[in-house]
Amino acid sequence: MKGKMFDLEGKTAIVTGAGRGIGKAIALGLAEAGADVGLISRTLSELEAVAEQIESLGRRAGAVAADITETDRIEPLVEELREKLGGVDILVNNAGMNIPQEALDVTVEAWDQVMDINLKASFFLAQAVGRAMIAQGRGGRIINISSQTGSVALIKRSAYCASKAGLDMVTKVLALEWATHGILVNGVAPTFIETELSKGFLADPQFREYALAKNLLKKLGTPEDVVGAVIYLAAPASSLVTGHVLMVDAGWTAH
Ligand SMILES: NC(=O)c1ccc[n+]([C@@H]2O[C@H](COP(=O)([O-])OP(=O)(O)OC[C@H]3O[C@@H](n4cnc5c(N)ncnc54)[C@H](OP(=O)(O)O)[C@@H]3O)[C@@H](O)[C@H]2O)c1
Repeated sequence: MKGKMFDLEGKTAIVTGAGRGIGKAIALGLAEAGADVGLISRTLSELEAVAEQIESLGRRAGAVAADITETDRIEPLVEELREKLGGVDILVNNAGMNIPQEALDVTVEAWDQVMDINLKASFFLAQAVGRAMIAQGRGGRIINISSQTGSVALIKRSAYCASKAGLDMVTKVLALEWATHGILVNGVAPTFIETELSKGFLADPQFREYALAKNLLKKLGTPEDVVGAVIYLAAPASSLVTGHVLMVDAGWTAH
């Protein structure tokens, strides 16, 4: 396996939320490692730009615009990408959102919005891809993009923390149920990363200070900082790893 530890040549990946931010960096990183990549988000123009970059790396890309909270669209969406790219070996459940609010202000609508994308859509995507992987009979990798907030509490994030803690537990249950099919299911849990999602609250100097308070390296992350962990969990290098949530948190959860 020497030299092949991080090689994804011949593999096909699906990445949700691949139009920008962490998902875009992951999609490009997987392509650089050799994978063909199916891209999902609601904004086709962003996906097409990422697809073009992937094709310029000599890999195949498929872009499908869809709102994955419309759960009845998930199965056909996965089938469309499988047909286009010839199967699915890797799923990265990355699409997610956050509505920072004091617990006293959280509305039912805001709670549902956060849960629907971060937890429910991720679960049903994993279910659709898990079914496909079992039918294909060649195993696979599912990687859920969680957050340090799945393990530690953060203010103004009751729904978000609950969604990511739920996703971490789903990761473990799927690892348990699908190990016999050779499907390894893991999570990646970043600290604060500068993206569209975080730029609003990171623009507040007080919050920025808070975001660095327990960060041992005293720097916020970039989307590229998350990519290596995902490639590791998608690649032969991690063939004995399942049911694990890998912190990419600059030591936030160490103390
Ligand atoms: N940024 C951070 O500090 C941080 C830290 C820890 C974990 N994370 C996690 O990392 C993941 C990516 O975050 P990010 O910061 O890169 O966010 P982002 O820049 O806002 O990107 C989110 C992506 O998800 C897509 N998306 C959102 N809702 C969707 C829906 N209903 N259906 C399909 N696609 C949808 C967005 O595209 P459209 O809007 O075009 O659909 C976009 O491509 C999330 O799960 C987030 O919780 C982020």
